[in-house]
Amino acid sequence: MIIAVDGPLASGKGTIAKALAQHYGIAHLDTGSLYRATGVAVMDAGADPLDEDAAEAAARSLDLDAIDETRIRTAEAGLIASKVAAQPRVRQALLELQRAFASRPGGAVLDGRDIGTVICPDAPVKIYVTADAEIRARRRWKELEAKGQTISFEDMLAQTLERDARDTQRADSPMRPADDAVLLDTSSLSIDAAVAAAIEIVENRRPA
Ligand code: C5P
Repeated sequence: MIIAVDGPLASGKGTIAKALAQHYGIAHLDTGSLYRATGVAVMDAGADPLDEDAAEAAARSLDLDAIDETRIRTAEAGLIASKVAAQPRVRQALLELQRAFASRPGGAVLDGRDIGTVICPDAPVKIYVTADAEIRARRRWKELEAKGQTISFEDMLAQTLERDARDTQRADSPMRPADDAVLLDTSSLSIDAAVAAAIEIVENRRPA
């Protein structure tokens, strides 16, 4: 069973994907971490995130086991990720890795922006998680504050809108719900309620 979970920043897609993987006992890949790690590697190399040669090289030499979870979780890494993610050669470099993960025996849950549309267009279950932009910005802002990172709410909201715009307007694999995705709006849902709603969607869609 392949479950594709897409949606914008702080929509709840990561939490939902993780919970689904646990519930069904299958593997989970947070594909955003690949773009974040690529962005951080480009920065470490002192290159411009918009330099496609440098970004592609970083994506191709990515070591999944060596991703530094702390470094990739900053607001800055998220912004740089959305810049490298807009480049077709970076997306191509990460495509096979994601498809190989999805085809592992037993199935997998992948979350990202283009899982249902590009990476796993034949996934039997596709969920597109959304929430109001201000609510999403506030969630991410609280998460970063709790980790001791200082960013104002206004800056977080501006970054949220900037990343939404870049992700939806890029030419290659823009963020959008697949035609056969089920929409799940988490704006007024608790985490438990959102996970329960996602499980219900899977139960209704999973192959017999
Ligand atoms: O999900 P997360 O916020 O970690 O993703 C960081 C960035 O990586 C996104 O803003 C998006 O530009 C990019 N991304 C993508 N396609 C994916 C996953 C993430 O373009 N499947």
